[in-house]
Amino acid sequence: NSSGQPEISSQQTLQSLQTAASHLKSRHTVVFPTETVYGLGALALDSTASARIFATKGRPADNPLIAHVSSLQMLQRLIPNDFTMPHSYHILMKRFWPGGLTLLFPSNPSIVPPIITAGQPTVAVRMPSHPIARALIALADAPIAAPSANSSGKPSPTTAEHVLSDLGSRVSYILDGGPCNVGVESTVVDGLNEDGNIRVLRPGGVTVEKIEQALREEIPDGQPVPRVLVHRRDYSDEVLETSPTTPGMKYRHYSPSVPVTLLMTSSPRTNGLVIHDIESYLNALPSAINAPSPMRIGVMFLIDSRLGTYPLPPLEGVEWHRHELGPESDPSVTARRLFDGLLTLEKEGVHAILIEEVEDVKEGLAVMNRVQKAATQSVWITV
Ligand code: TXA
Ligand code: MG
Repeated sequence: NSSGQPEISSQQTLQSLQTAASHLKSRHTVVFPTETVYGLGALALDSTASARIFATKGRPADNPLIAHVSSLQMLQRLIPNDFTMPHSYHILMKRFWPGGLTLLFPSNPSIVPPIITAGQPTVAVRMPSHPIARALIALADAPIAAPSANSSGKPSPTTAEHVLSDLGSRVSYILDGGPCNVGVESTVVDGLNEDGNIRVLRPGGVTVEKIEQALREEIPDGQPVPRVLVHRRDYSDEVLETSPTTPGMKYRHYSPSVPVTLLMTSSPRTNGLVIHDIESYLNALPSAINAPSPMRIGVMFLIDSRLGTYPLPPLEGVEWHRHELGPESDPSVTARRLFDGLLTLEKEGVHAILIEEVEDVKEGLAVMNRVQKAATQSVWITV
């Protein structure tokens, strides 16, 4: 609009949804909430509209987009007529659609433009469960391509305020649906391989444990249960389990404009990494960071861990900014609070962020995947 500021609608009336849908139909972008993170949407089947997504985010052209659908009929249009779903897909769609699971399908090249797939033979599709997202896609009556609504390389937004601080005047219409419930992006899965196994290309909101459980429960006794393959690294960047990842995973990601340090607290190994006792580490921080006074240091921690219950020492010229990541027992809270923590601390003007390691089980796997990409360094801490 004329002021250069986006229009923000926090009233989820039919009228604001219709306005948003008409923006989409006229090939413009719309920011909308999903249960995982906020998306920057445009018509998936229109190259001009989708190109605006890449321009707005500064996204590399070799990183394909997810097409969001509101019905199975909409999915059918994106894939070849003669495609037979693997049995595992029936199970995963029954259990996790609508929701935070993205599946790879062979793409129908006469419908899906190459800008969406980055020229690959597959198209990634997800049916979100957020009512605003569902209603918007249904009103636009077309699949909507939507990456996370952040500039490329930044943490994904989980509130409309996050979107505004990052993309601001580069977007024209934002539907404000409040904070996202899941807080990390969807799990991207490829089950198209002939071996029948499920490859987790990006860990996310739907956990590996839940996928394994669904397959175990739904596959009749005596029939082989597909394996769920994940790509795992340890903190020294050593590959522990190999499985392909998404094209997007090769990029540095999720980084606020301040340096992030991962504080590792579980059984230290010594492969080249520095081990500090927490007290001397925190005491040495001010001179190590070499920031102006007062120096603001953000600390993201689990509320009941040994680090979380450790009293941060009062240091001359240092202002601690604490951000809780929930209890050790519930990684879904950590997932919900992760990006908000990075973005809120950045907005508070901290000079550095320290973030505590969490166990890479359940949602913790997606959390650690994002943290390892956000962190510029990691140190072992004894607490
Ligand atoms: O939760 C989400 O998935 C959010 C919300 C808005 O739906 N969207 C999202 O989109 O995270 P984006 O673009 O930030 O991440 C999409 C990921 C990237 O890692 C991309 O490389 C991968 O999905 N991807 C997309 N199409 C693919 C394909 N055909 N094959 C392999 N990976 C693909
Ligand atoms: Mg993204």
